[in-house]
Amino acid sequence: MKSLLFSRFLLLLPWGLIVILLLETDSSRAPLAPPARPPQQAAPRRPALPPIYAITPTYSRPVQKAELTRLANTFRQVARLHWVLVEDAARRSELVSRFVARAGLPCTHLHVPTPRRYKRPGLPRATEQRNAGLAWLRQRHQHLPPPQPGVLFFADDDNTYSLELFEEMRTTRKVSVWPVGLVGGRRYERPVVENGKVVGWYTGWRADRPFAIDMAGFAVSLQVILSNPKAVFKRRGSQPGMQESDFLKQITTVEELEPKANNCTKVLVWHTRTEKVNLGNEPKYHLDTVKIEV
Ligand SMILES: *[C@@H]1O[C@H](CO)[C@@H](O)[C@H](O)[C@H]1NC(C)=O
Repeated sequence: MKSLLFSRFLLLLPWGLIVILLLETDSSRAPLAPPARPPQQAAPRRPALPPIYAITPTYSRPVQKAELTRLANTFRQVARLHWVLVEDAARRSELVSRFVARAGLPCTHLHVPTPRRYKRPGLPRATEQRNAGLAWLRQRHQHLPPPQPGVLFFADDDNTYSLELFEEMRTTRKVSVWPVGLVGGRRYERPVVENGKVVGWYTGWRADRPFAIDMAGFAVSLQVILSNPKAVFKRRGSQPGMQESDFLKQITTVEELEPKANNCTKVLVWHTRTEKVNLGNEPKYHLDTVKIEV
């Protein structure tokens, strides 16, 4: 009797294993293509994550591809992130076009040249490129019915971003803010928060600005961008270093700001700035036998 049971068990064992294997492969595939289920068994649907739009102005320089690679390696790990790369150029460069094609995440590649008269030290940079990103976003969404979930932030290509930052900004209702490391001549700057509200700014430079915050220190909901169609970065009347403040003034108030990163006590983004490279030994004329993109 015992041996009969045992032989039955042996007979069933391979089948059991096959079923387990099938279940395993099915569940490992689930995130890519959820199996079609009959409606009565459907799991409760979680609302889709709001997309994050990262607007990155970029310009040609020796470290450009290295910086973009570092950013792509971060952004690729963020769910539902759409990268809007805006080149400061009269046309799309081959380097960035090739890069975007292989970046492995949803990208939109735009370009707009900065007028020559604005290319001077002491003048704000990337104004036209950020506005081109905003215009693209508005154009893409203006004919769609609200509510349109989504969050936008300005991701300069010389910063370092923690993955946690994206979790924080994802829940932005209107405008959210957080600390930024290695900026303004200090180890960090941050919005000062009391009872869950922003009441001031810890900053080394012009704390009297209405929003004394770096470009890397805030995110805006798509709904706010769409319902303030005229809000842009301004050249005219904007003093150097006032870009962020002038922009935020158009769309929100300090009282409305949503503090993130543990009531603005955690640094999740750093204004790292890559050192200027030394190309002192670069030959005047191309000497190598191959042409290499760097
Ligand atoms: C932020 O501060 C408010 C008010 O003190 C508190 O209710 C809230 O839990 C805090 N949030 C976090 C994430 O610590």
